Amino acid sequence: MKLSIIGGGAWGATLGQLLVDNGHEVVIYDINEQFVQTINQKHVHPFFDLPLPETLVATVSLSEALNFSDYLVLAVPTKVMRSLLNTINQTLNSPKYFINVSKGIEPDTTKRVSEIVEEVVSKENLAGFAVLTGPSHAEEVIRRKLTLLTIASSNTEMAQTLQTVFSNDTYMRVYTSDDLIGCEVGGAVKNAIAVVSGMATGLDMGENARAALITRGIVEIVRVVEAYGGKRDTAFGLTGVGDLIVTASSENSRNFRAGKQIGSGKSMEQIYQEEKQTIEGVRAIEALHQLALKKGLSLPIIEVAYQVIFERMPINDAVTKLLTRTLKSEKID
Ligand SMILES: NC(=O)c1ccc[n+]([C@@H]2O[C@H](COP(=O)([O-])OP(=O)(O)OC[C@H]3O[C@@H](n4cnc5c(N)ncnc54)[C@H](O)[C@@H]3O)[C@@H](O)[C@H]2O)c1
Repeated sequence: MKLSIIGGGAWGATLGQLLVDNGHEVVIYDINEQFVQTINQKHVHPFFDLPLPETLVATVSLSEALNFSDYLVLAVPTKVMRSLLNTINQTLNSPKYFINVSKGIEPDTTKRVSEIVEEVVSKENLAGFAVLTGPSHAEEVIRRKLTLLTIASSNTEMAQTLQTVFSNDTYMRVYTSDDLIGCEVGGAVKNAIAVVSGMATGLDMGENARAALITRGIVEIVRVVEAYGGKRDTAFGLTGVGDLIVTASSENSRNFRAGKQIGSGKSMEQIYQEEKQTIEGVRAIEALHQLALKKGLSLPIIEVAYQVIFERMPINDAVTKLLTRTLKSEKID
């Protein structure tokens, strides 16, 4: 099969290698000319300085990437998704299958990527939509380390086709799911919880506190998944708890790392200056704060993170705020 990857950063270029390993033809589109040159001329991953297959090619021409295949893998940060999809829609003249691999929620609208796609891409250009997500550090997939993902779509045939496209016998096993909403939302909320877990680590609160935050974070994932209309079971699978486990205490996660820096007293301005890549979890915290207001949801961990990051609440006050909540019995609901 031929596939076009839109965004050749840490994850997009890594998926490019996976798809070439699986026998597919791939073109990567990226706005960063240096990344494109690195892939085409040095055959090296733009982030990890590891070799890439020579048959993996990249381009700075969006129309070249769109004309190359009927499958578009969206691997750009969610903050550019709406404007990029607008450009894609204006450039397209035939229907495409969209596969989103980015994990986020749009802060102002609280929309998921599938909702943005439906809003922006005209019906005649949209053959189908799926999300590919789950516990996956690009740093490990690029080294062909064993990884399990989930491909979710309301179109079962599309999900099953893509399951075989992305799976292989050596390091990648992909499950299907019909709960598109649950899978999309889990990936975004776990990034927010990973930031908080990093904050606790940066504050040197200890492993007890981190385990508690992660566990109560799962409750917040469940609430958000259900608020969007996703299934509770999905929150406990690869795309929810699975992805939270891989992210919430790992230095490979830029969300965890950003949280750690917040916890140790750095300002967001400093963090953004040093971290060149997107920190989806911070945007997710902003979006989930909006969602909680709109839907009257109780998300106490995400709410204090919002106050620390966006309202400059001293982090120790945030801890006190969580600890002085009314005592209650432990429940998932
Ligand atoms: N890195 C991972 O391990 C990983 C794993 C799973 C999912 N994800 C998700 O994938 C998404 C991308 O993450 P990443 O780690 O690859 O980020 P990244 O910052 O490494 O890469 C993003 C790429 O998108 C490109 N880009 C930005 N705006 C563009 C535009 N308008 N047109 C074309 N290209 C554009 C950038 O040049 C960059 O190469 C995020 O939502 C992230 O949550 C990442």
